[in-house]
Amino acid sequence: MAKLGNEKITWILSVVFCFFLSSVLAMASTCDGGFAKELEVEKILKKLNKPAVKSIKSPDGDMIDCVHILKQPAFDNPALKNHKIQMRPTFHPKTTNFSKSNPIAQTWHQSGSCPEGTVPIRRTTKDDILKEDSIQQFSVRRSLYSTNGHEYAVADLSGDRYYGAHASINIWKPPVQEYNEFSLSQIWILNRDDPNNVESIEAGWQISRQIYGDDNPRLFTFWTNDSYQTRCYNLNCQPGFVQVDNKVAVRSSLEPSIYGGSQNELSILIRKDPETGNWWMQVGDTSVGYWPGSLYNRMSESASNVQWGGEIINLRSNGQHTTTGMGSGYFPEEVYGKASFFKELSIVDANDNLVSPKNFGIIVTNPYCYNITAYDYSNDSGVYFYYGGPGRNPNCP
Ligand SMILES: *[C@@H]1O[C@H](CO)[C@@H](O)[C@H](O)[C@H]1NC(C)=O
Ligand SMILES: *[C@@H]1O[C@H](CO)[C@@H](O)[C@H](O)[C@H]1NC(C)=O
Ligand SMILES: *[C@@H]1O[C@H](CO)[C@@H](O)[C@H](O)[C@H]1NC(C)=O
Repeated sequence: MAKLGNEKITWILSVVFCFFLSSVLAMASTCDGGFAKELEVEKILKKLNKPAVKSIKSPDGDMIDCVHILKQPAFDNPALKNHKIQMRPTFHPKTTNFSKSNPIAQTWHQSGSCPEGTVPIRRTTKDDILKEDSIQQFSVRRSLYSTNGHEYAVADLSGDRYYGAHASINIWKPPVQEYNEFSLSQIWILNRDDPNNVESIEAGWQISRQIYGDDNPRLFTFWTNDSYQTRCYNLNCQPGFVQVDNKVAVRSSLEPSIYGGSQNELSILIRKDPETGNWWMQVGDTSVGYWPGSLYNRMSESASNVQWGGEIINLRSNGQHTTTGMGSGYFPEEVYGKASFFKELSIVDANDNLVSPKNFGIIVTNPYCYNITAYDYSNDSGVYFYYGGPGRNPNCP
């Protein structure tokens, strides 16, 4: 009879103990390697979730932690070790003829507010991390034109230098079919001067069960400084967005528009601070935070492209096109109240003026699935377009 070694006994004990724990706690982990995973998850959570001055339970189930501004995750990024926080932009955005935007309504505002000197951060849960292989989930692989499942309907501007961009987007909650598909609508500010090191700043609204755990549209930010090798959504992973405002939380849910009813808009202005080189994000009238210029190479000077539009992932489950919707989930022909739009498109030029683009290209992966229809100055919405679609339909099988 083989004698059991000590390790073996420990292993048996821990497996038995694990089964015991699993049944008591109904943990989803398997007992083989489950503990290692649990420990890993705890470690990640401890790193991501900073001590809160105050916590707010949102009606949508999120926990919002009010974290001291200097303790936010961005300062975990070694590249920001000696970064001096900038509390407000040095520029006063010049007056524009944009329609007055309402303060952004986020679901958690119904339950409280964060004190001065703190920033609201949606707490990352064990669930966020445990679901499937989601330890990898904060690094969704994406690249702009080699589509591998990514589909687009965007307006594309290039051929000049850009120092910022603006648009108001209406917010929707289109269906997203698969757990690891997403639907987003955003502004891209890109530097493609070196095609092997594309740098980007991206912000808008996004629906992703994989990233956020539910189907709500959420305000999100994203950045990369090396063609999507180093990249990060929101405030996690390689954090590259410094938040300063105590009211607007990135990664927190937004109220969608109603088909044929009230329209909720997200007004985003991203603009390089001419003095500090940081790229600020203004939502409505609020300066929420910035992407530090020091994380970028060429982008710290200016951008070479600006894009506005929608992106989805189509995994073609069961060999069919996904039913994940882009924009409102309806085609542009349905226009105001039913289709999603970007309006008051504008860019910041080299003279620091906010101007409407004269013309732009259109990139559509498949117009029978998702399309875009551009308009210009024909009304007070400035330059605008409708975009989106339902995905699978008889012309998009
Ligand atoms: C990208 O940013 C990271 C910091 O998050 C930095 O370590 C890295 O060197 C940067 N890459 C490039 C190509 O600048
Ligand atoms: C403001 O309106 C004028 C026309 O009335 C237009 O020329 C200009 O481009 C607009 N500016 C923006 C930023 O939309
Ligand atoms: C896509 O939109 C363009 C511009 O409005 C239009 O000419 C074209 O017919 C549309 N394509 C489809 C397949 O609906």
